[in-house]
Order: sequence, then structure tokens, then C-alpha cells
Amino acid sequence: MTSVKVRVPAKVNVQLSVGPLRDDGYHDLVNVFHAVSIFDEVVAEESDSVTIRVEGHTVDQVPVNDDNLAVRAARLLARHAGRSPGVSLRIHKTIPVAGGMAGGSADAAGALVACNELWKLGLPMADLMELAAELGSDVPFSLLGGTAVGTGRGERLTEVEAGGTFHWVFALADGGLSTAKVYAECDRIRQATGEKVGWPAVNEDLLRALRIGDPKALGPELSNDLQPAALMLRSRLVRTLDAGREHGALGSIVSGSGPTCAFLAGSKEHATDLAVSLKAAGVCRAVVTAEGPVPGAVVV
Ligand code: C5P
Repeated sequence: MTSVKVRVPAKVNVQLSVGPLRDDGYHDLVNVFHAVSIFDEVVAEESDSVTIRVEGHTVDQVPVNDDNLAVRAARLLARHAGRSPGVSLRIHKTIPVAGGMAGGSADAAGALVACNELWKLGLPMADLMELAAELGSDVPFSLLGGTAVGTGRGERLTEVEAGGTFHWVFALADGGLSTAKVYAECDRIRQATGEKVGWPAVNEDLLRALRIGDPKALGPELSNDLQPAALMLRSRLVRTLDAGREHGALGSIVSGSGPTCAFLAGSKEHATDLAVSLKAAGVCRAVVTAEGPVPGAVVV
């Protein structure tokens, strides 16, 4: 085999509850991940050295050196397997860059799966999940996909059986937001307001809505503790979220650390209508519809 192509989904967090800051600089979370049908593609080809090429929209912001998370994933996997890391990686990005939809994590997960196949390592999912957690908090979920509750810093996953398909509209913003800066802003706001930060707990009403596939019940349960921080750093997102509510979204939320905003619709038709209205409102760079849950990183 000389070439392997892997498709990896974006995610939206339907619940993101952020606990206190830990000594290691991370926060304990309850993070309910939901994979949606916006995909990056990672192609791995045999090569003597490690090279990376990135194609797609706003890819000028993606590093094309050893800092790239997909390159780090390939090198980590090679080290784990005790072999040379030679691979030529090509990434086609559709997931917004630094958009709060785990685009970088998706590429890392894609590289793990692609190199495992290309190099015929045959490592089981459990091994890949461990390597994924070393690469970033969201990378294990990008491997797994579907819907899952993440605890710890988000890397310890329990799958949730979602009862049906949910329809989403995403408002993509101009420019990204740094995840680390959004968490830091969250800490700053909490300190300034003297907010008492409790231990996060999973919202059982939200899980029930996911299990029975009821978007009307899910909409009001969507929550994101990073949203006030994202809105503080990017105040124009307030208008974007308002526009979704005005046009009948069942739920409107910043996706992860933002700046992408996610809107829940009641059906495919509703999502299409909502997307048209949001585009006409001129409150974002672009609008895309997607559905979830979808599987994690898969060879195609
Ligand atoms: O794990 P990852 O590298 O994706 O995290 C990026 C940054 O987001 C971390 O450096 C940290 O600042 C913040 N983060 C956090 N708590 C988490 C996950 C991420 O504070 N549970």
C-alpha cells in the first residue's frame, strides 16, 4: 500500500462545563462531544522523510512544519512503534481553522489512523486512543466520533447512544480564536466576578434528549461555559447568536472555544431555511449545514 486516505469529522460540544483550573494548567471538564458531517481528509503516502502539505480555506494559518499536530501524531506513532517516521502527509481542510470545532485534533487523529494503516502497524484502537490523548484533549474524540461524554481534560470518553440524527447550522467567523486564550479569559472573568467554580456534572436532561433524538428537548439544554469568554474576546458573535435565535434556531451556542457558532434545527429543511436566513443577515463569513452524529476517523 503506497497511499491511505482518512476522513475525520469536526465536533461541536453540546455541553461544555469547565471546572477549576488544575495545577497542570488544564481544567477538569464535563465535555459532551458530538461529531458532525464537516470533514477534513488526511492522505498519507510512503516517503523517506516527514513532509506536510495543507490545502483548503484559510490554511495560511496552519503550520506546515513540526508544529503541525498531524506531523506530531505521525512522529509519536513512529516512536511508539519503534520505526522511522517517513511519511508524506497531505491534508485537505474543510473544518474551520482555530474555529472551536477540533480541526487540528481531527488532523492528528487522521494522521494516527492513516499511518497505522500505511505502515501496517495494526495497532488497536486502545493504543491509538492513548497516543491521541498525549497529542491533545480533543484528539481521542476525533478518533472515536459519534456522541460521547468526555471527563478529565476531555480525553476520558464514554460513548452516548444518540437516538437519531440532529441537524445543525454553523456560522463560520473571519479569523480564529486560540483555545488557550479563551480558557485564560474564562479564568479571568471568573476571578473578576468572584464566581464560585464547582465540580462539573453531566446534564441528565441533555443526555436524555440525545438518547431519544429530540432536538426540541436538546435545544434549551445546550450549554458552554467558554461562551462568555469567547464573546468577550469576539463581541460581534453576540449578534450572530441573536440572529440564530431570531430566525427560530432551537438552540444557539458558541462551538467549543469559538468563534464558530452552532445552531440546532428541528429538521433538514429547517436547517436549510435557517442557513439561508443567517447568510442573509450578514452576521458571519460563511454558513454551512451538517448533521450528527457521524463516525470518527475512518479510512476511505
Ligand atoms: O489539550 P489541548 O492542547 O487541545 O489544549 C489547548 C489548551 O486549552 C491548553 O493548553 C489549555 O490552555 C486549554 N485547556 C484547558 N483545559 C482543558 C483542555 C484545554 O485549560 N481541559
